[in-house]
Amino acid sequence: MARAKISLIGGGQIGGVLAQLCALRELGDVVLFDIVEGMPQGKMLDIAEVARIDQFDVELKGTNSYADIAGSDIVIVTAGLPRKPGMSRDDLLGVNAKIMKQVSEGIKEFAPDSFVIIISNPLDAMVTLCQKVTGFPPERIIGQAGVLDSNRFCSFIAWELGVSVRDVNAMVLGGHGDTMVPIIRYANVNGIPVMEQLVRKYGSEAKAEEVMTAMVERTKMAGGEVVKLLGNGSAFYSPASSAITMAEAILRDQKRVLPCCALLTGEFGVNNYYVGVPCVMGAGGIEKIVEFELDDEICQTSSF
Ligand code: APR
Repeated sequence: MARAKISLIGGGQIGGVLAQLCALRELGDVVLFDIVEGMPQGKMLDIAEVARIDQFDVELKGTNSYADIAGSDIVIVTAGLPRKPGMSRDDLLGVNAKIMKQVSEGIKEFAPDSFVIIISNPLDAMVTLCQKVTGFPPERIIGQAGVLDSNRFCSFIAWELGVSVRDVNAMVLGGHGDTMVPIIRYANVNGIPVMEQLVRKYGSEAKAEEVMTAMVERTKMAGGEVVKLLGNGSAFYSPASSAITMAEAILRDQKRVLPCCALLTGEFGVNNYYVGVPCVMGAGGIEKIVEFELDDEICQTSSF
């Protein structure tokens, strides 16, 4: 049986890590596209030359030609500028919209049957634009934000409680920016509510709320925290791993329930907007949007 084909548009920081992760997990053959000549070819050669050590059997190709993405099962887009310290994701809109339009036209022409996962920021706007330009059905155009934001929230909870992050479950929904919504009431460690554990740890509801509020705020600003520390560029390991989780769910038909930026058509009372919501991800892309009761009490830090 032929291997799956994964194309990565944008061969910068995230693109390079994506290529390496695809190879290490043997998700399929990989094409890395960038407008910079030589760079994607060099990165793919670099990764391919350790195939023996890393024990993978997939083909890796760097390119500057969209024709090479033909037949892709999945396309992951990271083309576009990253943030610099002090910038919001929305500050990237003008320049990245032009790039996204070009990229979407390339995907539409050369990989019309692919599933597309978008990472470029500002995420919600970029996914909307890509869907409009390609005209692909919404289940095939998906934004990566919630997997990363949720993982960040889970990490902060695990560090606070001194438990393995593998046992923490917490979701962040909504937009990929200051308006993101960490879902506090459902945050749990193997089913035990995080808030209950914080109250036991600190012996007071007020202190537990203060600690949770700090974790929520850190989650919302987590991307900016990394941007500030790096000084030049934005997070790249974590967005790459998050997108690979989504790609793997599709390629291996895992039916994972992942928070993704999906086009809502009435779900949660929202029509025709891309929003971060829990989705069942499998061979059909977004196979289902998982709705649940959403009210102020679930979302807001002020009412625990
Ligand atoms: N087509 C394809 N690639 C392009 C185009 C284009 N029109 N314009 C720019 N690129 C490439 C650049 O050449 C660069 O290699 O996109 C790549 C972006 O890589 P980085 O600058 O290293 O940025 P990265 O950290 O990978 O982030 C990419 O993801 O998380 C978001 O905010 C982040 O929007 C940014 C994107």
